[in-house]
Amino acid sequence: MATLGFIGSGSIGTKIARLAIAAGIDVVLSNSRGPQTLTETVAELGERARAATPEEAARAGDWVVVSIPLAAYRQLPAAALAGKVVLDTINYYPFRDGEFEVLNSGGTTTSELVQKHLAGAKLVKAFNNINDQHIPALARPAGAADRSALPIAGDDPEAKASAAALIDRLGFDTVDAGPLAESWRFEPETAAYVVPYCADTDTWRVAMAKLGEEVRSGGPAQTRPPKDPGTPLPAHRLRTLLAETPRVLPADRVLR
Ligand SMILES: NC(=O)c1ccc[n+]([C@@H]2O[C@H](COP(=O)([O-])OP(=O)(O)OC[C@H]3O[C@@H](n4cnc5c(N)ncnc54)[C@H](OP(=O)(O)O)[C@@H]3O)[C@@H](O)[C@H]2O)c1
Repeated sequence: MATLGFIGSGSIGTKIARLAIAAGIDVVLSNSRGPQTLTETVAELGERARAATPEEAARAGDWVVVSIPLAAYRQLPAAALAGKVVLDTINYYPFRDGEFEVLNSGGTTTSELVQKHLAGAKLVKAFNNINDQHIPALARPAGAADRSALPIAGDDPEAKASAAALIDRLGFDTVDAGPLAESWRFEPETAAYVVPYCADTDTWRVAMAKLGEEVRSGGPAQTRPPKDPGTPLPAHRLRTLLAETPRVLPADRVLR
């Protein structure tokens, strides 16, 4: 019986958990406030789900999804995650996470920073370039003509293969974008980031520009991602986007 652990059980964590359960995988959820705050979520997910502390979720998982704001990455339980394949969904948004000079300069990637903290774990960046609503909307069985692909990056080939096999069970093909040093290829606002999975890309870009304005002006960030049914992104197109995208440093983003 396989188990997927979660550190972070918000928008992304719960969407992935639902796919895991549909694939017959048990899930152990955790967050910062404690398992008692996940009672409702666990009840909704059903008998394959339970809640625990981050350490317990880390130890229970055959793989562990880490899906928290970057600002909290130093709180990830490194000892409990040692030896584990960790799927890292984290993105860097300075307006939310504070400034990380090493990321602003392009000196390293977000996932390399997290991997450095989780020295004993085998990090695979995944699920960071798709909006949460598109995870259930675009998941398809293996072999479906309209299946979408997700990029992955990691420094351990076996861990990457294991993550790809898991993601296949969850409903997506994968495209290997290389080691963690190359994972900037699907960081925010690169060609492969979020927009190619949107059905209405114009509405999406307008909303993100508006949110960027709100953040820059120091006002409340009120604009929410528009509801969008999603559109399939096949592996061959994703491969081209990953190969051709320029790097987009935080200073050059519409939303930072
Ligand atoms: N939303 C998206 O569409 C999307 C898409 C791709 C990637 N991402 C990235 O994925 C990550 C998660 O995004 P999200 O939208 O799912 O965020 P979210 O809905 O705000 O959920 C964040 C989760 O992280 C937990 N958390 C925070 N600090 C923690 C800590 N120190 N230890 C354990 N758990 C902690 C929170 O628990 P508490 O509520 O108890 O604090 C919550 O369960 C972010 O880095 C985000 O940039 C998001």
